[in-house]
Amino acid sequence: MKHFIKTALLTASLGMTIAAMPAQADETSDNAAVQTREHMMAGIGGAMGTLGCYMKGQCDLPKEVVGLLAEGIAYSASTGPDVFKAETPDATEKTTASADIWTNWDDFSGHFPKLQENALKLAEVAGDKAAMGPIMGEMGKSCKSCHDDYRTK
Ligand code: HEC
Repeated sequence: MKHFIKTALLTASLGMTIAAMPAQADETSDNAAVQTREHMMAGIGGAMGTLGCYMKGQCDLPKEVVGLLAEGIAYSASTGPDVFKAETPDATEKTTASADIWTNWDDFSGHFPKLQENALKLAEVAGDKAAMGPIMGEMGKSCKSCHDDYRTK
């Protein structure tokens, strides 16, 4: 049941993202799309960084907060396909997104559900570091494999 509600919420948030997409692309909308996806990714990066700090025992956080950080990653990951959908050939904004994203769309966008799934698993064991460790490891692999294939250096 808990899973069902989360899936419904994630689906609802996707619907809102689609409705907010600009109809036509130009330099301004391409730059906005670059910023949107970079801010989304930076949010995931920030939450992962905080969780890493917690795992190392450097940040003391209540397990509820740890769970919310993990859920936040799941929500962000669920926006991935919509946030990255727009190709941005006219962007003047600096981007490390590879053009391969849009020629291998199914492979690229297929990385997000796996990350989302693991982030929800992490939320369920929040506070239990022994159980969290391997899931964090899997999540880290998701980041790396997608970045290796779809980010330019
Ligand atoms: C589906 C592929 C994919 C996955 C999975 C993914 N990323 Fe990314 N990430 C990207 C791409 C592509 C960019 C480059 C975006 C750009 O520059 O336009 C990026 C950029 C970033 C950035 C830089 C954002 C900025 O401000 O420019 C950070 C930080 C980041 N990712 C963290 C993470 C972390 C942490 C994870 C795993 C928990 C992760 N990403 C998972 C594709 C992915």
